[in-house]
Amino acid sequence: MSLSRLRLRFLSILLLFASSFLMINALPCRPDQIQALMQFKNEFESNGCNRSYYLEGVRCDNKTGAVTKLQLPSGCFTGTLKPNSSLFGFHHLRYLNLSHNNFTSSSLPSEFSNLNRLEVLSLASNSFVGQVPSSFSNLILLTHLNLSHNELIGSFPPLRNLTKLSFLDLSYNQFSGTIPSDLLLTMPFLSFLDLKKNILTGTIQVRNSSSSSSRLVYLSLGQNQFEGQILKPISKLINLNHLDVSSLNTSYPIDLNIFSPLKSLLVLYLSKNRLLPASLNSSDIPLSLESLVMARCNITEFPNILKTLQNLQHIDISSNRIKGKIPEWLWKLPRLYLVNLVNNFFTGFEGSSEVLLNSSVQLLDFAYNSMTGAFPLPPPNIIYLSAWNNSFTGNIPPSVCNRSSLIVLDLSYNNFTGPIPKCLSNLKIVNLRKNSLEGSIPDEFYSGALTQTLDVGYNQLTGKLPRSLLNCSFLKFLSVDHNRIDDTFPFWLKALPNLQVFTLRSNRFFGHLSPPDQGPLAFPELRILELSNNSFTGSLPPSYFVNWQASSFKIDEDGRIYMGDYKHAYYVYEDTIDLQYKGLFMEQGKVLTSYSTIDFSGNKLQGQIPESIGLLKALIALNLSNNAFTGQIPLSLANVTELESLDLSRNQLSGNIPRELGSLSFLAYISVAHNQLKGEIPQGPQFSGQAESSFEGNAGLCGLPLQESCFAPPTQQLKEEDEEEEGVLNWKAVVIGYGPGLLFGLVIAHVIAAYKPKWFVKIVGPDKSKEVNPVRLFLSMDSRCDSFNNTNNVEPESDM
Ligand SMILES: *[C@@H]1O[C@H](CO)[C@@H](O)[C@H](O)[C@H]1NC(C)=O
Ligand SMILES: *[C@@H]1O[C@H](CO)[C@@H](O)[C@H](O)[C@H]1NC(C)=O
Ligand SMILES: *[C@@H]1O[C@H](CO)[C@@H](O)[C@H](O)[C@H]1NC(C)=O
Ligand SMILES: *[C@@H]1O[C@H](CO)[C@@H](O)[C@H](O)[C@H]1NC(C)=O
Ligand SMILES: *[C@@H]1O[C@H](CO)[C@@H](O)[C@H](O)[C@H]1NC(C)=O
Ligand SMILES: *[C@@H]1O[C@H](CO)[C@@H](O)[C@H](O)[C@H]1NC(C)=O
Ligand SMILES: *[C@@H]1O[C@H](CO)[C@@H](O)[C@H](O)[C@H]1NC(C)=O
Ligand SMILES: *[C@@H]1O[C@H](CO)[C@@H](O)[C@H](O)[C@H]1NC(C)=O
Ligand SMILES: *[C@@H]1O[C@H](CO)[C@@H](O)[C@H](O)[C@H]1NC(C)=O
Ligand SMILES: *[C@@H]1O[C@H](CO)[C@@H](O)[C@H](O)[C@H]1NC(C)=O
Ligand SMILES: *[C@@H]1O[C@H](CO)[C@@H](O)[C@H](O)[C@H]1NC(C)=O
Ligand SMILES: *[C@@H]1O[C@H](CO)[C@@H](O)[C@H](O)[C@H]1NC(C)=O
Repeated sequence: MSLSRLRLRFLSILLLFASSFLMINALPCRPDQIQALMQFKNEFESNGCNRSYYLEGVRCDNKTGAVTKLQLPSGCFTGTLKPNSSLFGFHHLRYLNLSHNNFTSSSLPSEFSNLNRLEVLSLASNSFVGQVPSSFSNLILLTHLNLSHNELIGSFPPLRNLTKLSFLDLSYNQFSGTIPSDLLLTMPFLSFLDLKKNILTGTIQVRNSSSSSSRLVYLSLGQNQFEGQILKPISKLINLNHLDVSSLNTSYPIDLNIFSPLKSLLVLYLSKNRLLPASLNSSDIPLSLESLVMARCNITEFPNILKTLQNLQHIDISSNRIKGKIPEWLWKLPRLYLVNLVNNFFTGFEGSSEVLLNSSVQLLDFAYNSMTGAFPLPPPNIIYLSAWNNSFTGNIPPSVCNRSSLIVLDLSYNNFTGPIPKCLSNLKIVNLRKNSLEGSIPDEFYSGALTQTLDVGYNQLTGKLPRSLLNCSFLKFLSVDHNRIDDTFPFWLKALPNLQVFTLRSNRFFGHLSPPDQGPLAFPELRILELSNNSFTGSLPPSYFVNWQASSFKIDEDGRIYMGDYKHAYYVYEDTIDLQYKGLFMEQGKVLTSYSTIDFSGNKLQGQIPESIGLLKALIALNLSNNAFTGQIPLSLANVTELESLDLSRNQLSGNIPRELGSLSFLAYISVAHNQLKGEIPQGPQFSGQAESSFEGNAGLCGLPLQESCFAPPTQQLKEEDEEEEGVLNWKAVVIGYGPGLLFGLVIAHVIAAYKPKWFVKIVGPDKSKEVNPVRLFLSMDSRCDSFNNTNNVEPESDM
């Protein structure tokens, strides 16, 4: 069949399928193959994955018209991959990439063995469960197999017959047992082996070095349960350039000399191991090393061995116990690029304040140390500078302003004084929270400013909000809380198209909160608005919340947006916020802007609570306490179904508590204390589970949890007690069974409870009494650089 005829037939089929994917006519695919491809697509939910997008990843043989390559776009499919799937009819497939989809709890069908011409197979990052079927051993032509990031279990998969394999990635699963000890001998071409984050034990066999030695260049064994004896065979893999042996469970400290035969090594991960202290000072470690990660190794002295590593670009010695000053020679390493010294006991820098001026460092993080005195002059090409939670004093060096590469500046939780530098608009992320800075926020944001995050909370700033903030069209996060700013409500900020979080809590703001035209408050993207403890006055029109974006409930992939999302090869910066809502536990490290919170408490607001509050479907916390609101509690609150915390206490609200609020199933905290409410408290698990104090100070309220019964007859007493017990039980059942919001809260609460005590003892220590935010996540490393994965919270461990 000629190509043009084939195209014609193909086009008519296309019309049958009635869609707009003309571009596909470039594919020489047989019609039956196209049909099978469509059938395969229809086996799954593929919303958001149109046909042309799907078929872009298809290749057919230009002679036979059979599908030979299928690469699904990420996230195209959701559903179960069944054994009778039409996928397994594509016998000519040589290349199959289904990674980053969602084959919800599918096990791997043994029918994959039908595809025995496969050379490349990636099933990574799906939700595959269960064991790898033994039939995978039929795929003997495979050179590339990627099963990583699934939930696969069982012993090491049966891959002995796959002698052509060159890339094998089984990382991030739950494979257990031993590695076949002769794995490397049966796969002579293997150059990439990633077994990270499984539950594997034992060791491997490696031939003695000779011309026939392994071709392995990439070996990742970290975060398994391998023991020390695995190091000896590894040291024979002389071609390695990437080695991850973090978290070995050795009974003796590791002597770094064991790595000396690995003359080509560029990357070495040793985190969470015990290291022989002497070998950190002098050993025959490969001089080729470019990246050395030794986080959480209980190191107490600065490792002098670094001095010899003239190729070093990336050093991570975070979360150790290193005391004293950072040696001057470190900054002389000619290629140094990324330095992570977070969470040690460093007290400062050896050398003068100019010690960093000759350094090539671009990403520098020494948060969580005990550094005092003046801040050193930043390195000339710095991009990311983080020093939060130290005790630096003096001014922020004005020279940060002539570092044109600087993007992220985090000097929060220090003791800086003096003015804020006048160059903030060059930076994407600026965090100066909790210092003692004075003066006003410089009105120096120029047109085209890059600022996304500006946090100057907890300082002693005065003056007005700078009007030039209007030039920051990328601004997402603005926090000026706990200062002495004296201004009216900045309605003008509504021109900022991206503002999502705005807190001006505890300042001297005054005047009306409703726009001059008495219409809705129109900030296009605002989710979190915290205005408490100012002197706002006036009333809010009923339509106040009508245009509020958060009225549509949006969930991001993982339920949150990374607000300050500065992503570099290694670093992710995330904004933090103090949310002060009772009953609501929020992970403060990550701002959950897929939810919305509103706090107007502690002002002088009057009039009715706007009825339009009921439109805010994503609202999880509302605090209007300590104002002078009057009228009834709006019935529309019953429509705010995600609400977890509701505080209307200390107002002048009257009437009944709407019975309908009893249906708010996520409500964990409610207070209407000190109003003029009357009648029966709605009976339901959420209400009767509250403390009595939530309802006190209302002369007319009755019913549980208050003592005052709404019905006098004593004969009913017994029955009511029964009901109380039932109510409490129900409440627990709701928490455990039906409340994702609450569950989330509980999990976070657990995180706080689990970490906080040790945190204060071990990290803050008795001499660091300043308040810290226990679950703030300040940096995380990507998966290639795992020293901080899973331990994002500088979580104290027993080894610290
Ligand atoms: C199909 O989806 C892709 C990627 O999302 C998009 O670029 C393309 O415009 C879409 N095509 C149609 C016809 O919707
Ligand atoms: C198939 O087509 C591609 C490009 O369209 C060409 O490079 C290749 O040589 C062709 N193969 C055969 C077997 O004709
Ligand atoms: C498979 O597809 C993903 C994107 O969905 C891509 O990142 C990955 O590199 C691909 N792997 C192979 C082997 O083609
Ligand atoms: C595959 O089997 C399921 C039952 O397990 C059946 O419902 C479905 O129709 C079958 N699909 C095909 C394409 O045969
Ligand atoms: C996968 O699909 C299931 C069911 O639709 C859904 O609950 C789950 O959140 C999805 N997971 C991801 C990672 O998309
Ligand atoms: C396997 O897939 C994961 C997830 O897409 C990816 O991160 C990893 O680099 C892949 N491994 C190989 C060897 O390509
Ligand atoms: C490997 O292949 C041989 C024949 O080539 C076969 O006898 C053996 O059963 C296969 N092993 C596995 C584990 O499938
Ligand atoms: C490998 O070398 C070691 C000494 O380095 C020796 O003891 C061992 O017998 C050798 N093994 C083989 C298989 O040659
Ligand atoms: C480390 O090894 C010891 C025995 O040597 C074992 O009891 C312990 O559970 C292991 N720890 C881990 C985390 O595997
Ligand atoms: C910060 O400075 C204030 C006032 O100068 C002082 O009281 C406080 O102890 C200092 N805090 C730290 C951690 O140095
Ligand atoms: C609650 O929402 C529904 C549907 O969105 C609407 O019909 C109803 O009027 C709302 N109730 C109140 C009291 O606003
Ligand atoms: C860390 O080192 C200290 C002494 O330097 C020692 O007392 C402690 O047991 C070590 N911790 C671990 C987990 O090895």
